[in-house]
Amino acid sequence: MSSNEKTFQRTLVTSALPYANGNVHIGQICGAYLPADVYVRYKRLTGTPILYVCGSDEYGVPITLKALKEGITPREVIDRYHAANSAAFADFGISFDIYGRTSWPIHTETTQTFFLNLFRKGHIEKQTMQLWYSEQSKRFLPDRYVKGTCPKCGYEEATGDECENCGAQYATQELIAPRANIPGDSSTPVLKQTVHWFLRLQDFADRLRAWLDSHPEWRANVRGIAYSWVNDLRPRCITRDTDWGVPIPLDDPDARDKRLYVWFDNAIGYVTNTRQWGIDRYGDPHAWEMWWKSPDTRLIHFMGKDNVPFHTILFPAYCMAQDGFILADNVIGNEYLNVLNRETGRAEKGSKSKGNMVSLRWILDRFHPDAIRYYLCSIMPETKDAAFDWDEFMNRYNGELCDVVGNFIHRSLTMTVKNFEGRVPSPGTMDEMDEAVLGELSGQIDGVGEALEQFRIRQALERFVDIGRKANQYFDARKPWATRKNDVGRTATTLYVCCQVVRALCTTMAPFVPAGAERLADMIGVVLPKGSPEGGPDGWNEAKQPLPAGSPLKMPEVLFPKLDKDYVISQAEQHAQGA
Ligand code: MF3
Ligand code: ZN
Repeated sequence: MSSNEKTFQRTLVTSALPYANGNVHIGQICGAYLPADVYVRYKRLTGTPILYVCGSDEYGVPITLKALKEGITPREVIDRYHAANSAAFADFGISFDIYGRTSWPIHTETTQTFFLNLFRKGHIEKQTMQLWYSEQSKRFLPDRYVKGTCPKCGYEEATGDECENCGAQYATQELIAPRANIPGDSSTPVLKQTVHWFLRLQDFADRLRAWLDSHPEWRANVRGIAYSWVNDLRPRCITRDTDWGVPIPLDDPDARDKRLYVWFDNAIGYVTNTRQWGIDRYGDPHAWEMWWKSPDTRLIHFMGKDNVPFHTILFPAYCMAQDGFILADNVIGNEYLNVLNRETGRAEKGSKSKGNMVSLRWILDRFHPDAIRYYLCSIMPETKDAAFDWDEFMNRYNGELCDVVGNFIHRSLTMTVKNFEGRVPSPGTMDEMDEAVLGELSGQIDGVGEALEQFRIRQALERFVDIGRKANQYFDARKPWATRKNDVGRTATTLYVCCQVVRALCTTMAPFVPAGAERLADMIGVVLPKGSPEGGPDGWNEAKQPLPAGSPLKMPEVLFPKLDKDYVISQAEQHAQGA
């Protein structure tokens, strides 16, 4: 049943778990974290019980390869990047209810339970296969541990069983001219027989198709990817030759030197982290079940587009074999954020080797989170790729958030505080123009909310700025700076109306630029409800209630300081030079 027909009692939101092998960058932020955070903050304001779960993805080849390259242990890698990423997310205002870790023992338990339920229902089978083996390192070469030429397009840096150049997936034996890809070992591997466990995805085809068919409201990009997979389901290997992962819970000598594949355990981390959250919050090891097993829960996953198959096919298949698990009501897969090269003027794919990727930490050390959040929301790659552009960053933030919204708020509050003893004035007689502005407010607040309900962050942001734009027109037409000299009644009415718009802006900005919203709320004496997994008051609709005449106001400070052009350019250049 689609969300359009059904009312849910609570919402569970996940963002893809980033690998703890590097600093998260703004491309990931736009794909999985910022849109989810904006949505969650909005829902919390409406009073919906909502839980936002994420954490580090700490197993698999991405971690062990990083450790090998740096000559440290996998444990050191994950400890370093788990700490760095959780701090960066917090500083950026990403408001997870829990940011867990897949290396936690409780995650081993959750993952093994998932595996065993699948196994006992006959969905997992053991297969004998030939895999690349390095005689030099005396080990099998899973995933990125082997490189070679793509059998489909001839790209020479293709890895394991997929080509990042053409997107092809193939059997690893098909890789042409394979070579080990381990620091100190680029020997030519041999094919050696081994066994692995496979998940019979085809067993879930009918149920997956029925579920997808019941969600025509999902984004076209997500549906396209999901349907292309569902029509071609076959057994998929869910174990690897490694010692860094969740042990295979079978009493089988073949299982000893192998672990569950990271793409088996990682999404299960959503469940683990919900379990841990329930234990931390209530001391209740069963609290999580209401979030994962009640049909009254609305589950929504946010991710970059490359993670869509895992959230529309694999993870749902795992859940179908568990006892009473719900499936996602929506899967939001965002397109890519490219980076504009200032020298060539062209957008290019962000890549680690090019060094053009902007890490969240790097930009946070130089710019205010609200400025970054505003700009990234304004270019969010929802239906097509977008490009991060330093000049546009400055122009949009300065031109919209500062000049339109910030300026309206500042001049309204300054003039009110100075002329009306720091209080919202009592309005005199309203004319049509005043009533039009007040009459529109409730619809404008709804407009922002409706766009957010549909996960249209860009559109919601535009509607929010529009409230400020119209308010400035009103302010300019009413000229309170002139009327205050000879018509106090008129000025009072004008500024009363302006205060109401400021109040609406305060709430509607909160999902996008929460720090600014908090400061504004304090200036105008409004409390923005924090919301919680248990629910809370409806602060969103509360914003439609006028600030009563006589309410105290503080002398405003600048909410959104403008960015200086020379500063922005110098930072952009520093970044281009690899600072
Ligand atoms: N760590 C993966 C990546 O960065 C994403 C995992 S998403 C999850 O691409 F659902 F599996 F957690
Ligand atoms: Zn290829």
